[in-house]
Amino acid sequence: MSAARPGLLCAALLLSACSGEQSVLAPAGRDAEVLATLFWWMLGGAVVLWLLMNGLFFYVTRIRPQALSPRAAEALIIGGGIVFPTVVLAALLSFALSEMPKQREPGENLTVRITGESWWWRVDYLPEGSDPPIASANELRLPTGQRSELKLNASEVIHSFWIPALGGKTDMIPGRETRMSLEPTVAGDYRGQCAEFCGESHALMALAGVVMTPEDFAAWLEKEAGPAALPTSAEALRGLAVFNAEGCGGCHAVRGTEAAGTVGPDLTHLGGRVTLAAGILPMERDALIRWIRDPGALKPGARMPGYDHLSNAELSALATYLEGLE
Ligand code: CUA
Repeated sequence: MSAARPGLLCAALLLSACSGEQSVLAPAGRDAEVLATLFWWMLGGAVVLWLLMNGLFFYVTRIRPQALSPRAAEALIIGGGIVFPTVVLAALLSFALSEMPKQREPGENLTVRITGESWWWRVDYLPEGSDPPIASANELRLPTGQRSELKLNASEVIHSFWIPALGGKTDMIPGRETRMSLEPTVAGDYRGQCAEFCGESHALMALAGVVMTPEDFAAWLEKEAGPAALPTSAEALRGLAVFNAEGCGGCHAVRGTEAAGTVGPDLTHLGGRVTLAAGILPMERDALIRWIRDPGALKPGARMPGYDHLSNAELSALATYLEGLE
């Protein structure tokens, strides 16, 4: 490999990380903007310092190698070693500290409780006045233009909630509620990722972050609060029969039906989500079939058992039923 190759590879990796759905450098929310601003200022400062220091080294080794006078040396040490870093670090610290309380401000009229499970996200919406909460999973939808509060928990082990385009990360700790708030500004689809090692499928614990206009969000939430769609085709009805016969409702809830399990993700509006299995698969029937047949092959350690004893026709019917749960 030539010397230029690793450099090119690094540049490509760095640049590709600067845009897209999971980047702290492409902020789509107030909180992420603050972090990006801080990053760019620190990067700019580091570049200036690097140039200054190397300029100084060059000056004292090549241009004027004679020893400095004791007074000049003392001025350099006090100015460059004490005053300058104290001023710069104090300014950075004050900026960061002044922004921190805003990232924890209470929400305006929406609270979402998110629980880190092994290895998926339980998401319960608590709009003002709503009781019980509106149960969902593996997807966080938020409206633009308002601050929404997140209450974070974990069921077994520590996780960390992080949607880089929207804001910073916050740990999710079993037995203790942590909280943060987010104020998205740009509607779109973003990607979150568990940011704390939580076991064998930590890297496969992603989260879809969908930011909507307030009108779209209100319409979506109203639909999300409702019961599941009834199966309309014969194929979907066969799928529902398979769902019931296999006891899927023991672990999963589908509101409006007998399925009321709470161990696994709520499936009431599964078909309306953008991803499957906590961000690792697209919400498509082939993916649904692959997942149901052998979850452990796609997500090591997944608690859901495989259903590879089902025939292709049964799996296909089940996928049709689940896809219809929009
Ligand atoms: Cu959950 Cu890492």
